[in-house]
Amino acid sequence: MEELNLMKQAVQALMDGMPLALRDPHRPAWHLAPSVGLLNDPNGFIQHKGVYHLFYQWNPLGCDHRNKCWGHWQSTDLLNWQHQPVALVPGACYDSHGCYSGSAVVADGKIMLAYTGNVKYPDGSRTAYQCLALENELGGYDKLGPVLPLPEGYSGHVRDPKVWRHQDSWYMVLGARDLQDRGKVLLLRSTDLRSWQLLGEIAGTQLNGMGDFGYMWECPDLFTLAGTEVLICCPQGLAAQAERYLNVYQAGYLTGKLDYRQASFEHGEFHELDAGFEFYAPQTTLAEDGRRLLVGWMGVPEQDETCHPTLQYGWIHTMTCPRELSLHNGKLYQQPARELQRLRGEGSQWQGIADNAPGWPVDSAEVLLTPNGPFSADFGDAMTLSWDGALLRLTRNNLCTGQPEHRYWRGEVTHLQMLFDSSSVEIFINHGEGVMSSRYFPGPQPLLRLNGETQLALEHWPLTPCML
Ligand code: FRU
Repeated sequence: MEELNLMKQAVQALMDGMPLALRDPHRPAWHLAPSVGLLNDPNGFIQHKGVYHLFYQWNPLGCDHRNKCWGHWQSTDLLNWQHQPVALVPGACYDSHGCYSGSAVVADGKIMLAYTGNVKYPDGSRTAYQCLALENELGGYDKLGPVLPLPEGYSGHVRDPKVWRHQDSWYMVLGARDLQDRGKVLLLRSTDLRSWQLLGEIAGTQLNGMGDFGYMWECPDLFTLAGTEVLICCPQGLAAQAERYLNVYQAGYLTGKLDYRQASFEHGEFHELDAGFEFYAPQTTLAEDGRRLLVGWMGVPEQDETCHPTLQYGWIHTMTCPRELSLHNGKLYQQPARELQRLRGEGSQWQGIADNAPGWPVDSAEVLLTPNGPFSADFGDAMTLSWDGALLRLTRNNLCTGQPEHRYWRGEVTHLQMLFDSSSVEIFINHGEGVMSSRYFPGPQPLLRLNGETQLALEHWPLTPCML
């Protein structure tokens, strides 16, 4: 009954809210955004029989973090996405306070979702169940109920199952906060997806020489890339440093060797995945052509939401563009999925001294820049990117306080690929060595303007809108 009520309210909210949301000048032209309400983590990213499915954390009833459902899009080309019936709606006794994040696998030819049922009690405490839901004939999902209660020794914060197949078993990683407030990643095994055995903790605070590394790790994702295991995770509780960990919470990765039998993961240092203002809870999938693809949430929990200009249009947050991952010298590189090149309209090229460059329209555009020295670039008077020869700095005025705030990427910059949408920019540094993803809210018809005495080469394409 709860579920049915929420579903009815969601339909009403969509009918009432969509005309307004579509009038928002900051509505993305080619990024995924919720029709109405709030979007956060990507969930259940998978390609099955040539079709990509991307689910997402969605509150259809408002722009706050309640009523978490799983919205669902599908696409055959990673560009044009169609809305599907909402996949999961909270309300059962095991997911009464949210169908939280999780993943998808194909089992016996059907898509199976693994998600966290979040349950809150009146005294403020909570518990979590890892649950399953199976695709039905109508393209909807039938809940199969919980398959795993809270493991012993952990708080109510155990969530975000990412499931994959390895040899003859299923494996799952879970994000967890233990009873001593240490963030952990747990590894579990199953032969049938229904009964799960906890193998152990593979990474986290006080493990593998990490020291204190946060009180909770969210949204883990583990996969093999070029023979190396990569563990993506989102630690909460890292202290900000001069040039890193500047968002409220971080998303990053560890690389190393996973011993499935011993449940041990020998890994190197934690690296942030993105140096921009908004990036969190990324999820990857193995495409049928062998590429490891990633989509992230262009938002961060508990960061700046109250002052977002899109709130007055009844929606908030977008996904990042889909990205292809690769490893170079143990470092994870991200590049925009090659499909995005199909959005390119008529290209232009320019070369000269930065100060002499004309303005380039960037309301929906891709720009490649090859700088030969320090320069700066203004994006529609709402954001500035500058490189002094050693440090790349992204600056915008804080949406609430109006004070300038900065994000940094340190290193030699030889190439920049910048993907602009009506209220976001994703900057790929040196063909994916670094990325800075950020929302920004320029006035109408924003221009990219370059400054400096440096010689630059630039390529520009308008990007064709493909989302409503
Ligand atoms: C990360 C997160 C997850 C949780 C979901 C709830 O942004 O907090 O840990 O499952 O969002 O929406």
